[in-house]
Amino acid sequence: MYSLIKPLLFRLDPERAHDIVIDTLSALSGSAMAMRAIRVRQPTNRSTPASFMNLATANRFGLAAGLDKDARAFPALAALGFGWIEIGTVTPRPQPGNDRPRLFRLTRDRALINRMGFNSCGIERFIDNLANKRRYYDSVLGINIGKNADTPIDRAEDDYVHALERVYPLADYVTVNISSPNTPSLRELQHIDRLRTMIDALIRKREQLRKQYDRDVPIAVKLSPDLPDDDLPAICELLSEQAVDGVIATNTTTTRPTDLVSRHREQTGGLSGAPLEPLATRMVAALHRHLGERIPIIGVGGVEDATTAAYKFSAGACAVQCYTAFIYQGPRLLTRLLSAG
Ligand SMILES: Cc1cc2nc3c(=O)[nH]c(=O)nc-3n(C[C@H](O)[C@H](O)[C@H](O)COP(=O)(O)O)c2cc1C
Repeated sequence: MYSLIKPLLFRLDPERAHDIVIDTLSALSGSAMAMRAIRVRQPTNRSTPASFMNLATANRFGLAAGLDKDARAFPALAALGFGWIEIGTVTPRPQPGNDRPRLFRLTRDRALINRMGFNSCGIERFIDNLANKRRYYDSVLGINIGKNADTPIDRAEDDYVHALERVYPLADYVTVNISSPNTPSLRELQHIDRLRTMIDALIRKREQLRKQYDRDVPIAVKLSPDLPDDDLPAICELLSEQAVDGVIATNTTTTRPTDLVSRHREQTGGLSGAPLEPLATRMVAALHRHLGERIPIIGVGGVEDATTAAYKFSAGACAVQCYTAFIYQGPRLLTRLLSAG
């Protein structure tokens, strides 16, 4: 089916195509009958279940953050075969993100460049959307949180703490996104002093929420592939000390491998897909060297088939997420991944 629709979608501007797909999946996500109709028969009998952060998923392949930013389509996306879905990034207040065009296909490189800049309907609308659709969804649900562009970096933890508080009762885990390259200064939150302040604030708030809701919601931190190697020991030490539950590695890169061939390769933004794979896998391996089995690592970046998924598992990831390869392959990506286990 996707092979029929894809040529039409790929003739459109990438963000227009994205909006059409999300609108359609959102409409389908509101009806049990429609959901049954679209459920793709994936080779799930072959797939290995996953367990990380005390959460059990039907398979080891999740949808990465950024596709369903406003919590509109996650039930239909799960019906296509993903083991779990991470929605968001959501920001406390609504914001439009950067000017369009801000999403580019690098088709010959099997990659995308985006500079979306956290376009978000804001946390209150996000929660309404989520509450309306939750009953059609029965997998693990990750919620990825960020800060508004106009919140000064010194006040960033206010945004994250507020977002954590609002999504806590609805999430199976919460991802703290401090690694998107498209919000000015955001990646500074990975600097050890800022990171300590932020994680401290979140872990303290989580303690309070745990008592309030009598429920444990794991917190994961999503890191950039562009972090210098020298920063990793201190970051890993801090994450272990603070008992952060998971690490997601990685977000997109602002670097540009020299062998990119597509017209849009010089666009500003984060590069994802095949050219990111070696960088992201290297980061998973480096994190695993520092963290061992203390904190589970979810690998993401350029997973496009069983081989690239295996690279992440060998590097130490316990599960993987995909985004760009799903744009290029549709549900067939999951058929490929699930048939290999
Ligand atoms: C268009 C687009 C939007 C994204 N938005 C987000 C986001 O809002 N939050 C986030 O944590 N990651 C976001 N990402 C990064 C992905 O979640 C993922 O980490 C990255 O694309 C690498 O995986 P891939 O190579 O499989 O695409 C976005 C990626 C793309 C391509």
